[in-house]
Amino acid sequence: MTPDPAATAPVPPRTPGDDADWWRQAVVYQVYPRSFADSDGDGLGDLRGVTSRIPHLRSLGVDAVWLSPFYPSALADGGYDVDDYRAVDPRLGTLEDFDAMAAALHAAGIRLIVDIVPNHSSNRHAWFREALAAPPGSPARDRYLFRDGGGPDGSLPPSDWQSVFGGPAWTRVTEPDGTPGQWYLHLFAAEQPDLNWDNPEVRQDFLTTLRFWADRGVDGFRVDVAHALAKDLTEPLPSAAEIADAAHGTHPLWDRDEVHAIYTEWREVLDSYTPPRTAVAEAWVHASRRARYAVPGGLGQAFNFDLLQADWDAKQFRTVVTDNLALAAESGASSTWVLSNHDVVRHATRYGLPPGGGRHGQGQDGVDWLLTGGTSPVLDAELGLRRARAATLLMLALPGSAYLYQGEELGLHEVADIPADRRQDPTFFRSGGTEVGRDGCRVPLPWTADGPSFGFGDGPAHLPQPAWFAALAADVQERDPHATLTLYREALAWRRRLQGPEELEWVEGSGEGVLHLRRPGGWQSVTNFGPEPADLPPGILAVASGPLEDGRLPADTTAWLV
Ligand code: NOJ
Repeated sequence: MTPDPAATAPVPPRTPGDDADWWRQAVVYQVYPRSFADSDGDGLGDLRGVTSRIPHLRSLGVDAVWLSPFYPSALADGGYDVDDYRAVDPRLGTLEDFDAMAAALHAAGIRLIVDIVPNHSSNRHAWFREALAAPPGSPARDRYLFRDGGGPDGSLPPSDWQSVFGGPAWTRVTEPDGTPGQWYLHLFAAEQPDLNWDNPEVRQDFLTTLRFWADRGVDGFRVDVAHALAKDLTEPLPSAAEIADAAHGTHPLWDRDEVHAIYTEWREVLDSYTPPRTAVAEAWVHASRRARYAVPGGLGQAFNFDLLQADWDAKQFRTVVTDNLALAAESGASSTWVLSNHDVVRHATRYGLPPGGGRHGQGQDGVDWLLTGGTSPVLDAELGLRRARAATLLMLALPGSAYLYQGEELGLHEVADIPADRRQDPTFFRSGGTEVGRDGCRVPLPWTADGPSFGFGDGPAHLPQPAWFAALAADVQERDPHATLTLYREALAWRRRLQGPEELEWVEGSGEGVLHLRRPGGWQSVTNFGPEPADLPPGILAVASGPLEDGRLPADTTAWLV
């Protein structure tokens, strides 16, 4: 079997039109803007940098870009601490730069999804500064979740709840008269005060924000911590132990049923545009609760992070795919698929570590390895990348939308040896270093083998890049037919050509450890999770994640047949 030369033929871009269903099987590429491309050499990626790299995105063949936060921010949490929801961080550019970027993406046939962070603002947001200057019980404080402390002098936090990043979820403020005062809730860093979604002004303001970006031509929204907005802080507040096993929908902080009333309002706004603006929920909820976020009258789609939490194991992958297709059918949305994002250890690295080498849950695999500076257990980088390429090709064959994270098309590994004094993730600081955090997947991209920051910009990068980035630079891979970049391009070109109805049929009998699936129109994908080479079914080879061996599919390899 020889690869079909048609796979490398250029694919003409599609101009975004009015197709209301464009998102259902889109390939969405996540740009973490501060680490993508730096146009002015200040070490921080920016919007003009994104615009300058549109040829890369176009030749890759993605349908949409999801832009992580680019709003003004002190970067206490990589931009997820937003000072102003309707502005651009001056270090990243201006609103005019945003408009130019959106127009250039659209001209290249690429849609634009922006991140929206409604659970919390930053502590520098005008509302929070107003709240600090206002007395307890004031309307300004009511936009957030202020409470009196416990104990005779209010010096104890209102409850023993812990923040997601470690440490207490409450921080005490100093009142305008200089005395120690109330406490405010922050599920994440102290610089990220939680908003009060029972307050009508908060609700109204986010509708204004949705319209602000939709009016500028944004095609959709990725909704941060979508499952936390509705809260029940009725006193007395329960202890952490009392709510540890709360039944679905009854936890005071997470995944409450009332949250969906908010998204019903959002959907009305999103549907007032042509085509309707899309939204995808980042909701770390039980699988049985996911459909509620994904229904057409709600956000319309929800992430499932099940693939990125699965081991490299045929059974686990098959269960995840089968279950999520069923869940998608339940909601009416298409399924989402994710192997990497800005919050987890890159999948090339996860698959190169022994199974069980990390903690499960919220993509925690690899975090223990990070704690050792990437020395123990020993990473099998070559194996990890081989499996990552196979996993990606399998993911791209699934019905639904696939989310790619910047740099995975270069086969980047996690950077494990960032010195403590260069780390930025609040997880590192709030956990007292017992967790390293997510900086290792956020290191600025290598575009060229040379240059002060491998072509990221004209100056040094805001996070240190390792020397091994040179060999993986985009310009090096340009010239290599076996490069991961080449594989991604070929796979996306084939996917676009082969894409049909959102249906999948498992083909049995390929042997244990082999997943063989068929899509309408004769598209087949076969993945060999190992360890022995497997026979391929009849068909013409379109693309494979690695070389075949005497016409057979080696371990840790995926092939598409047509
Ligand atoms: C989820 C985002 O993906 C993550 O990066 C961020 O730290 C938290 N939400 C808090 O906004």
